[in-house]
Amino acid sequence: MPIYYHAETRQFHLYNKTFSYILRILENGYIGQVYCGAPLAPQGGYPFLDPLPFYGFSNNERNSIRFEYPAYGNGDYRLPAFSVRFLAGPAGGAQVVEPVYKAHRIRPGKEGISGLPAVYTEDDREADTLELELEDAASGLRIVLYYTIFASHNCLARHVRFINGGEGKVLIQNAMSFSLDLPDPDWNMVTLTGAWAREFKLTEGPLRPGFQGVESRRGITGHQQNPFLLLKRPGADDFGGEALALSLIYSGNFLASAEVDPLGILRLRIGINPEGFSWELEKGQTFDTPEAVLAYSSTGVNALSQDYHRLYRTRLARGEWRDKERPILLNSWEGTYFNFTEQKLLEMAKIARDLGIELFVLDDGWFGERDADDSSLGDWFPNTKKLPGGITGLAQKITALGLNFGLWIEPEMISERSRLFAAHPDWAIGVPGRKRIETRRQYVLDMSRPEIVDHLFSVFSSILSSAPISYIKWDMNRSLTEPFSRSLPPERQGEFFHRYCLGVYDLYTRLTRSFPGVLFESCAGGGGRFDPGLLAFAPQGWLSDDTDGFQRLLIQTGASYVYPLSSICAHVSAVPNHQTGRTTRLAFRGMVAFFGVLGFELDPAALSPEEKTGIAAVIDFYKAHRALFQTGRFFRLRNPVSSSRAAWMALSQDGREAAAGYFRLLARPNQGPFRLYLKGLDPAARYDLTVWEDGGFSEADKRRNTGCRGGDELMYGGLFLDSDHAHIPQEGDFFSELFLLRKIEAGKPGA
Ligand code: GLA
Repeated sequence: MPIYYHAETRQFHLYNKTFSYILRILENGYIGQVYCGAPLAPQGGYPFLDPLPFYGFSNNERNSIRFEYPAYGNGDYRLPAFSVRFLAGPAGGAQVVEPVYKAHRIRPGKEGISGLPAVYTEDDREADTLELELEDAASGLRIVLYYTIFASHNCLARHVRFINGGEGKVLIQNAMSFSLDLPDPDWNMVTLTGAWAREFKLTEGPLRPGFQGVESRRGITGHQQNPFLLLKRPGADDFGGEALALSLIYSGNFLASAEVDPLGILRLRIGINPEGFSWELEKGQTFDTPEAVLAYSSTGVNALSQDYHRLYRTRLARGEWRDKERPILLNSWEGTYFNFTEQKLLEMAKIARDLGIELFVLDDGWFGERDADDSSLGDWFPNTKKLPGGITGLAQKITALGLNFGLWIEPEMISERSRLFAAHPDWAIGVPGRKRIETRRQYVLDMSRPEIVDHLFSVFSSILSSAPISYIKWDMNRSLTEPFSRSLPPERQGEFFHRYCLGVYDLYTRLTRSFPGVLFESCAGGGGRFDPGLLAFAPQGWLSDDTDGFQRLLIQTGASYVYPLSSICAHVSAVPNHQTGRTTRLAFRGMVAFFGVLGFELDPAALSPEEKTGIAAVIDFYKAHRALFQTGRFFRLRNPVSSSRAAWMALSQDGREAAAGYFRLLARPNQGPFRLYLKGLDPAARYDLTVWEDGGFSEADKRRNTGCRGGDELMYGGLFLDSDHAHIPQEGDFFSELFLLRKIEAGKPGA
């Protein structure tokens, strides 16, 4: 059992191979945070680690204690994990709560959270859950803290349930999913920030006194910040040192913050953004927060990323496509934008098929009168001028070619110029009497209203039933404005954003359950809603609208801090690139896209014969190693953010096969040779090292680095690259090489 209760010290010890998490029922009934770090022996209590009050000048006993789920207004001046307002009774309007220990239960397995995505177990033996129930005696409010620790995933999942066990109404104003008080602030904080087409930028800096963090107030998680926060010790890197992270399984407004108090105690919090949020609980009602997941590593950040990858790939993603190899697709967007005919699409599809592509995806522009982005969202019937046989006819013709067929949709949106808007102008989010703001020339449907979700379910189920559609790209191209729902009474308007998110999850749940064979890909103008919440429904997502090979190196590196390669859709597009105007080699673009779910986004009819040959080679290679790239352990060997050289590696789960990609970015004269140290190999094993022949190789690198090599040699001695580097490199910018390793089994030839 990975949860141990020590009755004498009243400590709960949650532990697995990489960390221990200890909390305790304090003398006054509050729950104190004792320890979160490298594993401690599970038996026995740790009284010396107990959080102790520090009585400085004018300090009360609660001001400095490390709490597990700190309340507002009772002596702790740091930002609270939750706050409520009692709306009735003699203390009506008060916000003070005294949540003290009432009971606890430790049980095998893990339950789901109603209406919200969460990690799961397939067998009760995979995890244990601690339910810790607190009660505010004066009001009857109960708070249950849920902790699930996995036996073979180095992660801890937490969420919180509020139960109004009193007589009067309670208004929840803030309800974090995870709050963690740590004893010192000596960490650097890393967050994933950005903007449209340049998401997942690694942003790092030392913690400073006071409040800092990332958040969204857009109704979606956003391109700007991801619901994730990582701490690493100064000097820690991908392969050494202590790191700890929180990730939120949610797709709406979030907050992830750190607060360093004047005594140097650090409080981390992650959950729904309290800004604009409130939730009313009638007598007997409950409210569940989204789930947050902590990962900890004392051996560097890469190991922590791998823990997230494996948990999210195998115990957050679900459904038929979770473990299946993902198809190589051609998406029509950059090839045609809105301008296509059925004939053109079929021409593209035929060439795509001949190149080895498996799935043809028709993107935006197929419905209503959609010839530009100013109309028709909501009118989900085919444009018969472009598609005389409708989606059914096109899908049949594409499947007859031997390809699967996929379709782009944007269910949550409505254009002012649409039949849907003419019929239901009140379905678009907005405040009566006020002008709505258009963004990308569209409005957003009020997904908090069940009748709108019902309508969308009926529309999209009939489309999915009408044609052989095996894939859906679910887009969402703008943030929310004018938050207000006509279906909510004034005192419940603070519930709008969360109810919107619950509506999206409801539609996803119903569609994925009704069409279990369909592969869903999430998208929001690229990575505007690339978060763990949607991974539970769509096992892969469109990471960024930026398809430039070099930019992608940066974006995919950032995303790999949390998200598995199986979730990262990576497309090779035409050059000059449509977002940056940059031209890179096909092999370079292909190699970047190998480390994810490979796809294409171009017009195959516009390719030269050489490009076609090159693309066919990219596809052949990927097909031969698809499982390695989609499910292998991922190593950031060298970070493109901080150097002119980058390198990634994928190692199969059984350790028998690996691929290492080396990317030289901007050419520099007189650069000198370079050692690339591989990771994760068996030091005692021997590996057969080859190169991807179409990868554009320097002959000297090939000579030096192929053949039979020891795992120890490759990890500690490294590959010897750029060994013939002339003082003026002839290859120019963006050069890449890909090495393949196959473990030589004892007793087999070559051993
Ligand atoms: C968004 C998506 C693109 C494409 C367009 C279509 O920007 O990220 O991939 O689907 O919408 O309008």
